[in-house]
Amino acid sequence: MVCLVTGSSRGLGKSIALALGKRNHRVAVHYHENRDGALKTAKEIDNSIVIQGDVRNNDGVKDLVKSVIDTWGRIDVLVNNAGITEESLLISTSGEVFADVMNTNLKGPMNMTKAVARHMMKQKRGHIINISSYAGTKGKQGLSAYASSKAALAGLTRSAAFELGRYDIMVNAVLPGYMKTDMGLRSNVKAQEQAVNDSITKSFSEPENTAEFICYLVNTSGITAQIFNLDSRIL
Ligand SMILES: NC(=O)c1ccc[n+]([C@@H]2O[C@H](COP(=O)([O-])OP(=O)(O)OC[C@H]3O[C@@H](n4cnc5c(N)ncnc54)[C@H](OP(=O)(O)O)[C@@H]3O)[C@@H](O)[C@H]2O)c1
Repeated sequence: MVCLVTGSSRGLGKSIALALGKRNHRVAVHYHENRDGALKTAKEIDNSIVIQGDVRNNDGVKDLVKSVIDTWGRIDVLVNNAGITEESLLISTSGEVFADVMNTNLKGPMNMTKAVARHMMKQKRGHIINISSYAGTKGKQGLSAYASSKAALAGLTRSAAFELGRYDIMVNAVLPGYMKTDMGLRSNVKAQEQAVNDSITKSFSEPENTAEFICYLVNTSGITAQIFNLDSRIL
């Protein structure tokens, strides 16, 4: 299968790209600014290309998908993984910061979904997987923008699943637990400890587990519009 993983220069996206590559899928490794990281990921995958683009930019996203189609002639899997977080109390969160988080975490997946859906509709096959978050269902102090973007992503996931199901395009979301990626480590230590304490296993989540789950999901059919919780915190 031909897979595109946004934000696979590092963190969870990298783990997903590597796991798909290990299963002999062709993988488009995508980055925004970290070209070296993307090249490193791609080097570990037999059949890969590296593509750059800002998911907030609708025109740029179209070019990015076009380069995958130009290379391999199809696209079977899109993982909307790229994301950002900005931590601040709601009363100090500026409109600009709020918009930036929404544009990256919500409009980005919308732009990407629109760009790949046309190709997948012709193929009558495809998987779109959105990476959501525990914060999107439970909310979290200091994360109003992030939590809002991830909550809204659930709505996008289910609505897209309704519209695309007739073309055998499955749209699902996955909630990884708290991972020690760059994003996870940016939170204050108290928040990290809280996540571990709230988890039944008293541990961080490993990106590799989410990556393995996604490898399973892309080989299923008839499972769509679902939000899979891979955390050990109770929702
Ligand atoms: N870490 C956690 O505990 C956790 C928990 C639940 C859900 N998640 C979700 O998992 C996903 C991956 O998170 P992570 O922890 O791996 O984060 P990360 O280590 O900070 O990596 C973020 C990735 O997103 C890319 N990116 C950021 N802004 C972008 C933009 N405007 N356009 C295109 N790409 C952009 C980055 O590209 P560059 O490297 O080029 O900058 C990078 O590859 C996110 O959606 C996040 O919300 C994370």
